[in-house]
Order: sequence, then structure tokens, then C-alpha cells
Amino acid sequence: MAKARSVHVCSACGAVSPRWRGQCEGCGAWNTLEQREAPRAAPGRSARILGETGPVPLAGYSQEQLPPSPSGIPELDRVLGQGLLPGAAVLLGGEPGIGKSTLLLQLAGQVAASGRRAVYVSGEESLGQLAARAARLGLSSPDLLALSTTSAAGAVDILGVGDAPALVVVDSVQTMASSLADGVPGSPAQVRAVASELVEAVKKGPATLILVGHVTKEGLIAGPKILEHMVDTVLYLEGDRQHFYRILRVFKNRFGPTDELMVLEMQGDGLSPVPDPSTYFLGERDESASGSAVVLALEGKRPFAVEVQALASRSYLAVPRRTALGVDLNRLNLMLAVLEKRLGLALGQSDIYAKTGGGLKLTDPGLDLGLVAAVLSSFYDRPPPPRAVFWGEVDLSGRIRPVAGLDARLKQARRLGYEPIFHPPAEGRGIATLKDFQKALFGQA
Ligand code: TYD
Ligand code: MG
Repeated sequence: MAKARSVHVCSACGAVSPRWRGQCEGCGAWNTLEQREAPRAAPGRSARILGETGPVPLAGYSQEQLPPSPSGIPELDRVLGQGLLPGAAVLLGGEPGIGKSTLLLQLAGQVAASGRRAVYVSGEESLGQLAARAARLGLSSPDLLALSTTSAAGAVDILGVGDAPALVVVDSVQTMASSLADGVPGSPAQVRAVASELVEAVKKGPATLILVGHVTKEGLIAGPKILEHMVDTVLYLEGDRQHFYRILRVFKNRFGPTDELMVLEMQGDGLSPVPDPSTYFLGERDESASGSAVVLALEGKRPFAVEVQALASRSYLAVPRRTALGVDLNRLNLMLAVLEKRLGLALGQSDIYAKTGGGLKLTDPGLDLGLVAAVLSSFYDRPPPPRAVFWGEVDLSGRIRPVAGLDARLKQARRLGYEPIFHPPAEGRGIATLKDFQKALFGQA
């Protein structure tokens, strides 16, 4: 009889190595490799994944694909590209407590309200807790079903059958246990096994699967990062628990756009999409206050008007303080260095604070010019023109560089009634250097 082959499996990440090693090549952990009998190839396993008995000619093969169906939340359909696609696996990541369960129970409720079945599988909450949440959210359709289990097999049984529901939510991948891997729920090996079992199952049926994955601030040890390549679509729900808004961003999308986002507001009865978020981050802005500027920032495909505030105050510290909220601190420091060097601004004696409206994290490089405007305004203690708006990237030489989306930003700025518009040089208009900018805004050069 042939000798049983053995392999070494890492108990932390599940990586397999043919030889014993002190350190796992997969995750770098020490002394985690354990000897196991090599798994025998399960008969027909690969064929089962493909759903066929062997390779077939692609030409002439049925191209049938069930059409996507509206989710009941039109904004979400826009973000997803086409609504809920049968057989697709979606991952929703986000920090604990940000509102993932709330959003998905609402979505399941919407699907159920349109007469299709939706099943919410929770490994985190009991049926009683889910019922209380559904009541709070005003969801009462009999087609909204729930299952409280931590067994991945329980969810697999619902997916992948001909009469599968339209939507299956599994909350969360970290609390489910798969019998196909070792380790405790939430370990990388388990997370991977749970996800692969579910993704394989959903491909066979008409359901859409949405899998919840917690992301922690410290890192993504067993988080959605290792799952991103296994699913069709990755969404992240972001926000600040101190504020009411949440942003749903598309990170990866096999069937639709990737740079879409939607803004939601957390209220007593759940999350609701903000219909026109273009001025949502302005708040109750005082146009006559110094240190405040409006930026037309492009996040995703949409231009948002966002208030940027700066405060330059006399410092009593040996090293003046630099604090940023919603603005990257490195970027703030960079802008301050450019202002010192290119405009001769003496900021060495000032503490400088900068923040965006609602603490919205802006990644758009066009933020630079608004940030510079807010710092200059606070430094001179003079407000910019009341309806002024800004965007543009500022480079180290003090030049103002073009950023993407000129037409979209101009259109939005005009729609919202902003004037004057300060933007990088384009088609013979715009401002080219910080010196010109300072002069145009505050009459100094
Ligand atoms: P939750 O959806 O449980 O977060 P996650 O699943 O991402 O961990 O959201 C939890 C927070 O949302 C909690 O602090 C309470 C708040 N909340 C509301 O403000 N309004 C609501 O209608 C609901 C259901 C929750
Ligand atoms: Mg939850």
C-alpha cells in the first residue's frame, strides 16, 4: 500500500507546506506548523466547482445569466451598478458598530417588501435580538426570514438550491464556523474556509450573497482583506461613530463601477440615503468667519462641497501643534511647509488645526487649495469671499496643478451658485501659482 503522504499545516493561517519549517511562509508565525495527513483529492471536487463534468467548448455555450434585480434601494443599485445579481457574492466590510447589520437588515427588509424572500443569517445575534431590530426598523414583511446560527453549513443549505431566496445575508464571516478547516471561528483559516464554502454555494443558485466582515482599526488579521479576491464585489461602510453620516464605497466590482459611493445618515430608525449629498458636508457654515473655505472635492464620481476649516493660533509650545481631522496630517504639514517657503508665511509660532465638515476623510488631491485658503484666511483673520469655492493640487514649488474632473466640478460649482471659483489653470483660466492665489484672495504678494 502506498505510504500516506503528510503535509504541514499552519494552525494560524492554514498555509500548507510540504516540509516542516520553524516559521510559516504564509503568515510569518513561528512554531505553528503541524503535521497532517495530506488530504486526498475529493473525487469530483474540481468538477463540482465548475458545475460540469469536464472542459467544454466556450463557443456556443449558453450565455444565459439571470438579470440583476432592483434591491429596493435605488441609490444602492446605482452604487452596485446593476442591483442584486443572482449568483454573485458581495462582501461588506467595516468597523464594528458602524451600521453593517442595520443596513443589511434594512436591505433584506426591502427585498422582502417587494415580494421576494430574503434570509438574514446571523452568528452574532439571537432571533429575539434580530426581531427587535427589525421592529425598530419598521420591517414587517412575512418574506423576511432569519436564522441564528454559527454554522456555515446552515447558510450553505439555503444557498445553491433552485428555490433559494433572492438575498442571503451572512453576518458575519468571523462568527461562522466551517467543518472544512481547523481553528477557532475568526481565525484566517476559518474565515477563508467559511467564505469559500459560501461563495461556492451561491454560484449554483439564484440568490445574491452578502457577507459581512469586520475590519478593526489595528489591522486586518482575519478580516476582509484575505477575502477580497474570493468575492465579486467588495463594499466598505465608513464613517465616524461620533457623526451621523456613513459612506458606502465600492472597492472592487466585477460587474459594475468601482468608484461609486453613497452617503447615508444613521437615524433612530436605521440608515437612510442622503438624497443630495453635494452640500451635506457644509453644515451650518458661517460665511463671515475667517479660517473657513469650501472645497469642491471629487470623491468617487461625484463632486461634493465640503467645508474645510483651519485655525492658526499663537503657540506657547516649543514645538507648535499640528492637528488634523478628516485631512491627512502629512498633507497639512506639506501645505504649511510650502506656505512658509513660497509665501514667506511665518507659521513657526502658530499652532495649526485643520478639519473637514463632519470629519469627512478626503482623499482628493484637489483639497490642497481649499486647505491653503483656510490656513491663509485664519492667519490673516479675514474670511474669503462669502460664496468662493476652491479646488486644485498644490505642489512643492508653489504651483497649482490640475486635478481630475474639471467639468464635473465646474458644473457643480455653478449649480450650487458659487462665485468666484478658484481652480487650477485650464483653457486660459484659473490660477497658476500660490503667489497669484494669495494676491487674488487677500491682496498680498
Ligand atoms: P450595527 O448595525 O449593529 O453595526 P455593525 O453591524 O456594523 O457592528 O449598528 C450599531 C449602531 O447603530 C449602534 O450603536 C446603534 C446604532 N443604531 C441607530 O442609531 N439606529 C438604528 O436604527 C439602529 C438599528 C442602530
Ligand atoms: Mg453587526
